[in-house]
Amino acid sequence: MTDQLDNLFSRVLSAKIFANREMMRPDYIPNDLPHREDQILRLAEILAPSLKGSRPSNVFIYGVPGTGKTAVTKYVLKKIEDEGRKVGISLEVAYINCKHDDTNYRVLADLCESVGERIPFTGLSTSEVFRRFVNLVDSSERMIFAILDEVDALVKKTGDKALYDLTRINQRLSRTRISIVGITNDLKFMEYLDPRVRSSLGEEELVFPPYDASELEDILSRRASFAFNRNTFEASVIKLCAALAAKEHGDARRALDLLRISGEIAERNGNNKVMEEHVRMAQKEIEKDRVVEVIRTMPLHSKILILSLHLLGKGGSTGELYDLYCTLVKNMCLEPLTQRRVSDLINELDMLGIANAKVVSKGRYGRTKVVSLSISTKNLKEALQEDQRLGALIKK
Ligand SMILES: Nc1ncnc2c1ncn2[C@@H]1O[C@H](COP(=O)(O)OP(=O)(O)OP(=O)(O)O)[C@@H](O)[C@H]1O
Ligand SMILES: [Mg+2]
Repeated sequence: MTDQLDNLFSRVLSAKIFANREMMRPDYIPNDLPHREDQILRLAEILAPSLKGSRPSNVFIYGVPGTGKTAVTKYVLKKIEDEGRKVGISLEVAYINCKHDDTNYRVLADLCESVGERIPFTGLSTSEVFRRFVNLVDSSERMIFAILDEVDALVKKTGDKALYDLTRINQRLSRTRISIVGITNDLKFMEYLDPRVRSSLGEEELVFPPYDASELEDILSRRASFAFNRNTFEASVIKLCAALAAKEHGDARRALDLLRISGEIAERNGNNKVMEEHVRMAQKEIEKDRVVEVIRTMPLHSKILILSLHLLGKGGSTGELYDLYCTLVKNMCLEPLTQRRVSDLINELDMLGIANAKVVSKGRYGRTKVVSLSISTKNLKEALQEDQRLGALIKK
């Protein structure tokens, strides 16, 4: 063991692929955001009146995941804050990720905290928190930008009441002004909103289109030129990462993840250069993580169905699967879903690449659907590890 560890440590210490791995992390905001020049200028143009003391319009930003919405917004606001400091204007930015703070209470409490008042975790009514926020921000003259990132998460969970109040808040303030920047990757989000909220949140709208393969290549090359040491990757590696990510939906996060993980795999293997084969392995690793995450967040009955598939071993007919599923469900003192519903779930699992369903001919006995599991026992264990009842049933 000691030998193995020594080996591992010396491999890690002598690894020369990354010059600065941090720069490949998803939350790192680069100084250089190629192919987002238009969006940067447009957002800056909308928000710049704040530097002269007027309230900028609210802005609504949307685009599919990984198109630079968060990075561009943080970048522009940082520049505006810096400029505000230079010209002596007090600009404050409250950045809230509504996926983490997905209740009206948490969002308002976070806004309060960003202007200096701690709010207890519970105990106050939402309207009381809102009232405190109004009094607090209006106690001195300032301009506040409330960035509501992934704002769809908040609305889906608790409706648009907080957004409604926030978009009207300026009417209640006499000294301070607040502008809202709402960000979402749910392109249908605006449809869920009350029309009044929609029109005030979307005073200005900014669309972030997906990147194409050559844009992703640029983004990757520039990031890699800082994050990786010289001569540690082939140009073909960047091309491949860009092409794979462009095939999904032009997601820069996916492209960067692929390149970072490829570099990590190369280092782990003791290679001095990232090669295409490392990218292929990285792609598999990401795919595996995706499947594990998908299963982990599935409803209980889907998990039980997956477990039944695992217990069937090489696969079985839909009838056998349903019987096994019913047995497991009843053992847990639950009520089974109907065969029809289970059949829908099987189709879903098939589409997600978790199960494989195929119709086979049984000669004169007709045709039957045979289902088997497409993921490894190791991945299944990882996906079900939080649910001990299910995890305990996995065959060794
Ligand atoms: N033009 C760009 N240049 C360099 N890096 C970029 C660019 N666009 C995005 N990135 C990087 O890609 C990753 C994803 O970007 P970001 O988080 O801004 O996406 P997003 O549009 O907010 O996605 P989501 O909707 O999933 O929140 C980040 O690491 C970001 O730094
Ligand atoms: Mg984002």
